[in-house]
Amino acid sequence: MSEKKRVVVLLSGNGSNLQALLDQEHHYSYQIVGVISNAPEAFGLERARQHKVAAIGLDYKNFSSRSAFDQRLAAEVGRFAPDLVVLAGYMKILSPGFVEKFTGRLINVHPSLLPEYKGLGTYSRVLADKKPRHGCTVHFVTPELDSGTHILQASMTVRPTDNEESLKQRVQAMEHRIYPLAVHLITSGRLLLKGGDVLLDDHPIDPLGYQLQENALELA
Ligand code: GAR
Repeated sequence: MSEKKRVVVLLSGNGSNLQALLDQEHHYSYQIVGVISNAPEAFGLERARQHKVAAIGLDYKNFSSRSAFDQRLAAEVGRFAPDLVVLAGYMKILSPGFVEKFTGRLINVHPSLLPEYKGLGTYSRVLADKKPRHGCTVHFVTPELDSGTHILQASMTVRPTDNEESLKQRVQAMEHRIYPLAVHLITSGRLLLKGGDVLLDDHPIDPLGYQLQENALELA
């Protein structure tokens, strides 16, 4: 295989998506070279260290403003010379300056079928609205929250017995499959952003993202 592409992960908490990315990197075209958190106590940093991956905690409290924090964050990310920057439960809004610096090489996973349910609390809102389906979306990051071009989207039927916890577990199980896959598709060069469209193997994909289902999370 040709040389692996360098990936930096930004996170704020548990890091189950980081774990999935680490566990699957051996059969994909990327390597996680650094993990940075805005929360120094985030368990995700511990997961990185256990995997012998450089882990950096940057405490927001030590910075005078969001732009000062993001400037330092961009410098720390840049030091790893990443091909791709992956947000995996990074729960701070990034400043436009940061996003512009990494445009086209910055992606996020969000627990909803975007463009529905941007922002926080997606599970409770989906249940309150009695939605028949829920899921997750991998997308390129733009300065506007949860609004960048879609890459992959995985969906499932909401069961009558589902509650917030079960929905979260089911959605995260899908995230743990589709996020490593998305990172692989980009780093292997199979998927790219061209003039606002996402091309997979040279063909434009569904504007909502390449569609996957809970029981079929492989590419066709
Ligand atoms: C993930 O489920 C991800 O979709 C969500 O945070 C969780 C982090 O879990 N991200 C967002 O809500 C971003 N808007 P993890 O730390 O266990 O990977």
